[in-house]
Amino acid sequence: MGRNGTHPTRLKSVNPAPKSSARTATGPASSAYAEAFVPEPDGAAAARGRADDLGLECISPGVAAALALLARVLEARAVVEIGTGTGASALALLAGMAADGVLTSIDAEAEHQLAAREVLTAEGIPSRRVRLIAGQALAVLPKLTDGAYDIVYVDGDPLEYVEYVAQAQRLLRRGGLIVLHHALWQGLVADERNDDDEPLIIREALQAVLADESFTPVLLPLGDGLLVAVRS
Ligand SMILES: C[S@@+](CC[C@H](N)C(=O)[O-])C[C@H]1O[C@@H](n2cnc3c(N)ncnc32)[C@H](O)[C@@H]1O
Repeated sequence: MGRNGTHPTRLKSVNPAPKSSARTATGPASSAYAEAFVPEPDGAAAARGRADDLGLECISPGVAAALALLARVLEARAVVEIGTGTGASALALLAGMAADGVLTSIDAEAEHQLAAREVLTAEGIPSRRVRLIAGQALAVLPKLTDGAYDIVYVDGDPLEYVEYVAQAQRLLRRGGLIVLHHALWQGLVADERNDDDEPLIIREALQAVLADESFTPVLLPLGDGLLVAVRS
């Protein structure tokens, strides 16, 4: 049963926005200000350059700041990342993690991980702090240890997000965080009339987190949307 006593499959895909007198700081100017507020870590520009060359997307500066903060709050020592890309999110997570923390980062494309390794090495990050695993996330994740991770950061194939949530549930320790990027997928997740595969499946993944009472979630409109939930 879900947290409202309804069966998870019957939950609405998007809750109706409640009427509220609370002020909100929405709009492009506030969004741009928030995104640029915290300077990016050294090396982010190099990661972006390599991503452009490979036709890949990177996290936004605001998402990078959030990842570093969350890793710092938890003093994270063991983090799983799904979707290494060229290393922008890895740099942010490592900037917040404990000095002896190890990031396990999975990507299906060895070429992306090669670029990420070069970016991280140029920033002086010792190779022992980043365990890069080349492979399909759904083949690799089941081999990782239950309850052993402080954060599972999801930025891989959006069509596999529901399975990633199930894996994160298993991998996280109590008090650990699932952090799911692209949670608002170009604004299309909030548009209930849109039934493209990505927004549909991301909505399903968000509802799986919401319906799981062991998670306390928040959905943040940073970058392409960031769902953060702590596992109790
Ligand atoms: C948007 S990029 C990640 C960007 C990175 N997190 C950053 O901001 O620097 C998505 C990555 O997920 C990888 N990917 C896509 N499907 C995957 C899968 N099924 N298993 C593992 N990696 C996958 C892609 O190769 C790509 O490098």
